[in-house]
Amino acid sequence: MAGRTYDVVVFGATGFTGSLVVEYLARAYATKSLKWAIAGRNEAKLKDVRASVAKKLKDETVNKVDIIVADAKDAPALNKMAKATKVVLSTTGPFWKFGSDLVAACVTSGTSYCDITGESPWVKEMIEKHDATAKANKCRIVSFCGMDCIPSDVGCHVVAKHLREKHKCGVDHINSYILAMKGGVSGGTIASMFNFFEQPNFAELRKEMGSPYELIPRDGRPSIRQPDANAVSYEEEVQRYTTPFVMAGVNSKIVHRTNYLLNHIYGPEFRYREKNTVKGDGWGSWLSGWLTTLGLGAFSVGAYFSPTRNLLRRMLPKPGEGPDEHTRETGKLVMRFYGVGDSAAKPKAVATFVTHHDPGYAETATMLAESAICLAQDTAKLPERYGFLTPIAAMGDTLVARLQAAGIDITVEDDKNTSSTPPSSL
Ligand SMILES: NC(=O)c1ccc[n+]([C@@H]2O[C@H](COP(=O)([O-])OP(=O)(O)OC[C@H]3O[C@@H](n4cnc5c(N)ncnc54)[C@H](OP(=O)(O)O)[C@@H]3O)[C@@H](O)[C@H]2O)c1
Repeated sequence: MAGRTYDVVVFGATGFTGSLVVEYLARAYATKSLKWAIAGRNEAKLKDVRASVAKKLKDETVNKVDIIVADAKDAPALNKMAKATKVVLSTTGPFWKFGSDLVAACVTSGTSYCDITGESPWVKEMIEKHDATAKANKCRIVSFCGMDCIPSDVGCHVVAKHLREKHKCGVDHINSYILAMKGGVSGGTIASMFNFFEQPNFAELRKEMGSPYELIPRDGRPSIRQPDANAVSYEEEVQRYTTPFVMAGVNSKIVHRTNYLLNHIYGPEFRYREKNTVKGDGWGSWLSGWLTTLGLGAFSVGAYFSPTRNLLRRMLPKPGEGPDEHTRETGKLVMRFYGVGDSAAKPKAVATFVTHHDPGYAETATMLAESAICLAQDTAKLPERYGFLTPIAAMGDTLVARLQAAGIDITVEDDKNTSSTPPSSL
């Protein structure tokens, strides 16, 4: 990596999430050694982002951060940018639309890369096209470094590690639950969701996307059936009604890909289930669980048909828009992971992942920025593993330590309270 001008280039710095990453780096790394630049297609907008962060932080040095102009479709400009840095961090989504040439540029120039896509079919396509070259060129290509899917990947990792090191066993299953989540949604996220419904081969993609093993090559997929996460059910573990969680599908794929990339370190028969929860108990929460589930279903149907999708597009935030500062500051995520070991004693462990701001944007900016710096500056501590990796397969405990230092609470301990009987749907 000698001869690279920057540690990290932030591509998509003018977007809603990209500008939060710029603010995070300017704030958290002002006095630390980090060589970074911001990039995008519009120079004037990039200068505006820099100036507004400088003004907000009352730090004129932010205006000295270098600017790189590159369009997502301009391969020569992307190649030049990739060759100038150790890591490209991208928030330029929908990634299916704007991400492929940048990934190709990073892979061919041996530059590591991270992003916050949740678009698993696009990542699958990228893996199939570029994994062999990325391995040969010894770079780490790491998607899903935001709320999709770091909490789930990290939560399962710490539970499995606790069971492995303290109880000398693998994992039979982990059930995870969203106990609290508060935040908002951006126009870029809506655009990425709708872009999926607009793919010409949508029906075919949807079939493959239904598999929790979508991101594992077909000949490496476990035969074990994964638990159903689609029911509204009461779960003793959390003593709450639980509902399907909108991001569980993609999060589960990353957890299983980590297990695959780490040679089934969690266990060959490992099962994972992720659900949302409804506060309180009794009929009120049962009803609220069903209403939430039906609302989610109605939204998916609305997004499927183009007339209703266009109507929704008009009503929801547009690209560049997102939750305001108050919403981001007062947001939070509390996620808990209950794991049971695969030995005869069935030891139990519980992990908690807590963010103190909106997980989708403020804390996604933190998770993504720390992932990029980890890939750029912590290489001596990272496993000798290259190609298309998950956050945990690429960075493991080094990333966990960085997230903790950045204010995210991640804890794990023996679980004295849960029943060792898996819930009925397992
Ligand atoms: N995983 C997670 O937890 C998570 C969280 C948040 C967001 N996301 C994802 O992150 C992505 C961005 O979301 P957002 O709300 O930040 O979106 P956004 O505000 O619309 O930002 C999109 C960015 O892409 C840039 N862009 C668009 N076309 C380009 C082109 N041809 N060349 C270069 N740059 C181009 C835009 O530049 P201009 O300013 O010049 O238009 C802008 O900087 C979405 O895919 C979203 O789903 C994921």
